[in-house]
Amino acid sequence: MMNYRQSYDRSLADPVSFWAEQAEAVAWYQRPRNILEHLADGSHRWFADGRLNSSYLALDQQIALGRGEQAALIYDSPVTGVQQRFSYRELRDEVARLAGALRALGVGKGDGVIIYMPMVPQAAMAMLACARLGAVHSVVFGGFAPYELALRIDDAKPKLIVTASCGLEFERVIEYKPLVDKALELALHQPAQVMVWQRPQAMAELHAGRDLDWRETVAHAEPADPVELASGDPLYIMYTSGTTGKPKGIVRDNGGHAVAMQYALPNIFGMQPGDVWWGISDVGWVVGHSLIVYGPLMNGCTTVFYEGKPVRTPDAGAYWRVIQEHKVNALFCAPTAIRAIRKEDPHGELLKHYDLSSLRRLFLAGEKLDSSTQHWLEELTGKPVHDHWWQTETGWPVTAPCTGLGSADQRPGSSSLPVPGYNVQVVDEEGHLLGPNQTGSIVIGLPLPPGCAQTLWGDHPRYLNAYLRTYPGYYHTGDGGYVDEDGFVYIMGRTDDVINVAGHRLSTGEMEELLALHGAVAECAVIAVQDPIKGHVPLGLVVLKDDARLGEEQVQRELVALVRERIGALACFQRVVVVKRLPKTRSGKILRAVLRKIADAEEYAPPSTIDDPAILGEIAERLGAAGFARAC
Ligand code: COA
Ligand code: AMP
Repeated sequence: MMNYRQSYDRSLADPVSFWAEQAEAVAWYQRPRNILEHLADGSHRWFADGRLNSSYLALDQQIALGRGEQAALIYDSPVTGVQQRFSYRELRDEVARLAGALRALGVGKGDGVIIYMPMVPQAAMAMLACARLGAVHSVVFGGFAPYELALRIDDAKPKLIVTASCGLEFERVIEYKPLVDKALELALHQPAQVMVWQRPQAMAELHAGRDLDWRETVAHAEPADPVELASGDPLYIMYTSGTTGKPKGIVRDNGGHAVAMQYALPNIFGMQPGDVWWGISDVGWVVGHSLIVYGPLMNGCTTVFYEGKPVRTPDAGAYWRVIQEHKVNALFCAPTAIRAIRKEDPHGELLKHYDLSSLRRLFLAGEKLDSSTQHWLEELTGKPVHDHWWQTETGWPVTAPCTGLGSADQRPGSSSLPVPGYNVQVVDEEGHLLGPNQTGSIVIGLPLPPGCAQTLWGDHPRYLNAYLRTYPGYYHTGDGGYVDEDGFVYIMGRTDDVINVAGHRLSTGEMEELLALHGAVAECAVIAVQDPIKGHVPLGLVVLKDDARLGEEQVQRELVALVRERIGALACFQRVVVVKRLPKTRSGKILRAVLRKIADAEEYAPPSTIDDPAILGEIAERLGAAGFARAC
């Protein structure tokens, strides 16, 4: 077996033979011969002539390998008090019947299905049932407001929406069905049907003719077998924030994704069949796809499916309880969750009640992992805590310790070494390669490995412009940082308008577009300011129109309500500061990076391109008065 260094070198020197070999691990219906195709526009296709089915790989194949009675999915829901175990056979049977029901509703290969559900196992079943039929699922995170859901409905044009009557946020019941109804009032596209999983905490009203009760619909359905798909057929669309109000529909193919999942789980995360894996996220994010549903199941692991929070469900010992009870071997979570636990239980008193002996490692990503949180967690658990870095677009880690290849070295502040297949480089603004320890834009040399998105749903030109045209020959990650002399990568933050709030990716550009809709706002900028738990939260700086008659408090109230109504509560947009002017370059570009530094009390030098340096002092004073950092 190759070690990390040998694998990495081979993957870059000869990607075709390297990935052809990895593809052997997949149970294709037709093994690919055409491993890598370069398209004239710079994008590429992996395994074009391979044929497979992702639901088959995640379920039927595992049963064929003798794992029928092994637990495939353990649902642990402290918010409802329910725990449920599904063996591979039980999960396959549920999925096959659901797929049969969807097929009877006219859903087939290439049809879109939007899934807007909380963390109930039916969400995973819906994903796998779509995959079984070749329908393209798009899961929308439950925290998004109807307007955002409507944007996705109009873009994905689903034949069907699958939802649940409600979700539970701590002790609050959030009714989902009225949100879907509202989204459908806003959307131009109308799906034929809405299928509802009724939960006892709040039963939804069903509209005759359009809405279907899940249990009734599935009760008499004939199970459906997996259909044979081409490698390049889309498995799912995952919408993610870009720099504008229009989310990007990241498209994941079936073949590249299956190879990437079969490679990542054992080689990066050290997972073997029969191991218990816990991806602590939500099916509404990419992590939920790769590390809650497809990755663990395609590798014969048991996946823990958690409907709860790190704290207050019921306390900051919740994660330790789940690890002990389900004998979790390794987990993924966001640093935010650990910061929240640390705040409530700084000395780890609750952990003392639990046995973590099953746990081998913890993997953290989604936002910057600060060293203090990393060390605290390592000391508390006595286990290695690994930072690693990826994006919705890549679908699996770009840099990570490859623990399955014997490489678990880490350096403080680094998200580790590049994973085989990823040629990570740093360039300056003109696209010149930079040397070790020089900060610039992080790019990945083409071809990207299998599994990474090669297009956006219905908008290939936007894919090319956003990712491949900025630095020809490279994929533009949108992250800035550097690589040290030994190849360790350090992610310093986004170079665009994307921010991470509690591990959730949001667009400040989109928030600015919303604030600008308000009648009193002449100009605005939204920046991310540091937050001790959520990493960052957005802050709006607005210049009011001369004739605006509103006080600062009322402006803030109205703008906060606007963002909550249009994007959703997950944006955590709660603060607005009114300023007289915004700092700009002579060409009129708002200097957001300087604003960020002032708000976070970091040192800054007025850029040489600034139109009027005096504005910076004014802004610092206003932010100081509003309780943000004092001027440097
Ligand atoms: N459905 C509906 N509303 C949701 C939601 C969902 N699925 N998820 C979040 N929200 C709402 C919350 O109820 C909250 O609403 P409020 O403003 O009315 O209180 C708002 O969105 C902000 O939520 P959040 O940022 O999660 O803050 P919180 O105070 O409720 O919880 C933490 C704080 C740290 C417990 C929580 O952020 C957390 O668990 N973070 C980890 C996230 C994670 O695992 N991310 C991984 C992504 S890969
Ligand atoms: P998402 O597409 O929601 O997964 O968000 C991807 C973005 O999150 C990346 O582009 C980074 O900005 C950020 N991110 C993810 N993992 C890390 C990490 N380990 N360190 C720093 N930033 C990260």
